[in-house]
Amino acid sequence: MIFKQVFDQKSSTYTYIIASSEGREALIIDPVLDNVEDYIKILNQLNLRLVKVIDTHIHADHVTGAGKLRDKTKCATIMGEHTPADAVDIKVKDEEIIKLDHIKIKAIHTPGHTSDSFSFLMDNSLFSGDTLLINGTGRTDFQNGSSADAYNSIFNKLLKLPDETLLYPAHDYKGEKVSTIGKEKKSNPRLQVSNVNEYIDIMNNLNLKKPSAIDYNVASNLKLGC
Ligand SMILES: [Fe+2]
Repeated sequence: MIFKQVFDQKSSTYTYIIASSEGREALIIDPVLDNVEDYIKILNQLNLRLVKVIDTHIHADHVTGAGKLRDKTKCATIMGEHTPADAVDIKVKDEEIIKLDHIKIKAIHTPGHTSDSFSFLMDNSLFSGDTLLINGTGRTDFQNGSSADAYNSIFNKLLKLPDETLLYPAHDYKGEKVSTIGKEKKSNPRLQVSNVNEYIDIMNNLNLKKPSAIDYNVASNLKLGC
């Protein structure tokens, strides 16, 4: 298996390139439009064929590279079934398995940050989008976000995974690259609550600014960045 974590400086986004060493098929999770040429370079250098690209949700802070990658490589675009983006080729359901040669990736519906958010589990690696971050969680104050749904997704789905599960989020703003479910359970300040109401209370009092280019980014992402 080939695995690469690529960082976008401007939006602090992590993009993941996963590929099978045998069949040379590749999949990209959460590509950023500005970096599409870099991904293509990596794919070419490693002699990989991009077959699938996944967006965990409609992002508000950057424009997705999914549409451009589809146009350049003829790969299939994938999002969860609740995506408002009509252009998506494959809309996966909760617990559906995505295949990449012999590699299996399970889609998990984890609404809350946005209503369309999905996380993706490959063996013991969890790609959590903005649902669960390292020492944080995704905000819930736009795009049909819901703190109650986020609590349910995090506590009743993601934190039920084994403690040693590796956590790869869609963003980090402090240079952290990976964590584990066990570490987050113990030390993530947002997770030190005893019930859903305490979580809602924390999320209601974050007083975050509206992301600067959210309207442009969301409109672009509904068309997969094209
Ligand atoms: Fe997001």
